[in-house]
Amino acid sequence: MNQQAIISQTADMLKEKFSDESSGHDWWHIFRVWKNAITIGKKEGANLYVVELAALLHDIADYKFHDGDEKIGGEVSKQWMQEVGVDSETIEAVVDIVNNVSFKGGKNAKKMQSIEGQAVQDADRLDAIGAIGIARCFAYGGYKGNEMYNPDKEPNLNMSKEEYKTQKGTQINHFYEKLLLLKDLMNTKTGKEMANARHDYMLNYLDEFYSEWKGEK
Ligand code: NI
Repeated sequence: MNQQAIISQTADMLKEKFSDESSGHDWWHIFRVWKNAITIGKKEGANLYVVELAALLHDIADYKFHDGDEKIGGEVSKQWMQEVGVDSETIEAVVDIVNNVSFKGGKNAKKMQSIEGQAVQDADRLDAIGAIGIARCFAYGGYKGNEMYNPDKEPNLNMSKEEYKTQKGTQINHFYEKLLLLKDLMNTKTGKEMANARHDYMLNYLDEFYSEWKGEK
């Protein structure tokens, strides 16, 4: 199989596997990360074959058979790529990215080394901000039963990992606790530019939201 055929077969496999995932990590999240990663990878002169495969496979560990094993994403990716005939050098590069991007280590997560990994990580973070990020934020809040906004609740900027998981915050606070911080975590120049535009869009959105909340508009 040529590279293009391998990529489209990988996309088909993921579309099928993730079709019934209703959390934030459904097939369309993967699709958008894939598209963002291509845009970034092209501008940054990355190896697009590695970028595309890694973007497509980056959340494979979230698929149902994940049982807390951090390396599962890399292993499942490797098996799949061997099955469809990806060369070993590409496999190694992709596995490294998948293992690092899916590691939920928060502040201590190590920085992606390769430009391909940086492109995929930026692409994943971009999907949490801008118009898509806003939509995902409120969709997730609805799923969790969180309030959309409550002027009596302040954002909690020093949340522990436990609080982050268990606290019933508001979705507007989530902007301050996470979404507005993402632009400073971008690796690549292209990722930063895209993030800045999406960031400004969110700031405008918040202005509009507060004005409408107070009946000023
Ligand atoms: Ni993701």
